Amino acid sequence: SCQLDKLAKAAGLQYFGTAIDNPSLNNQNYMRVARDISEFGSITPANGQKWSNTQPSQGRFSYTSGDSIANIAKQSGQQLRCHTLVWYNQLPGWVSSVYGKDQMQRIITAHIQNVAGHYKGQCTHWDVVNEAMEDDGRYRNNPMYRAMGVDYITHAFKTTAQTDPAARLYYNDFNIERCCNAKINATLSMLKTVISAGAPIHGVGMQGHSRVGKSPSKREMKETMAKFGELVDEVAFTEVDIRHTKLPTTAADRDQQALDYVEVVGACLETPKCVGITVWDFTDQYSWIPGQYPGEGEACLWDRNYNKKPAYTAIVNLL
Ligand code: XIL
Repeated sequence: SCQLDKLAKAAGLQYFGTAIDNPSLNNQNYMRVARDISEFGSITPANGQKWSNTQPSQGRFSYTSGDSIANIAKQSGQQLRCHTLVWYNQLPGWVSSVYGKDQMQRIITAHIQNVAGHYKGQCTHWDVVNEAMEDDGRYRNNPMYRAMGVDYITHAFKTTAQTDPAARLYYNDFNIERCCNAKINATLSMLKTVISAGAPIHGVGMQGHSRVGKSPSKREMKETMAKFGELVDEVAFTEVDIRHTKLPTTAADRDQQALDYVEVVGACLETPKCVGITVWDFTDQYSWIPGQYPGEGEACLWDRNYNKKPAYTAIVNLL
């Protein structure tokens, strides 16, 4: 029938996936869709594998939240797209107070060996490093960068490859969809630097958070993916949601949202190296957008009552 993952695979992609998060796991309506393998062939934990959850204090590892979601994927026969090992955000305070290069390197090693080791063999992909660049093209001045410079990126990829050799290893970021801004150019040169330093990077993840009516065009995204594709084997849209900046929405707004989603899916379909698309949750009921951008929202493919929106139908028609 006409469902997202089924159609995406028939169209040549490896998966159509969604992020899901722990607070929604006891909602029956939610779980019926989340576990539907014809809709979602891949699941990503929205928060459970992040540093603040997995190693809240030094040497104390916790996999409760991440495992709940990994187990759902396993039981439903869905792939697990893992997120994320090294990120400046949702990073516990104790990591921020580490200044020495060797000390930080040991901490990153221990974190990755434990977390990627725990999930070894389960993750089809790992977002190894998330959001290392600023919009203006500088390296983000995060605790890892302050201690190690760009070597933290190389080290994170090397360590993950040693720990879980089967996972496809990604660099992941936002605002790198529309060719070619300062951030994209800087990301390309960062990737060249760390790849020549020996970082085993298989893919670039474009998060794909954008706004209705201001979303990048298919042409712009294809141009970007072609550039990343010169450096890595694969690219993917990893966190797609397209939010309305004005609520409540009209039917015309929702039709525009459908057009915007179709540009993303079309760009992936027309890019041989684009392996898949993940949406950052599938229902407006649990989207992170209203919490992050007050007054904005309705960014997902299903509304809060689990009705499919025009964007869903438009994607299915395209696929
Ligand atoms: C978001 C989660 O969805 C929220 O629940 C959390 O409060 C903050 O993080 N880029 C990323 C994701 O790489 O990890 C973020 O997820 C959204 C932006």
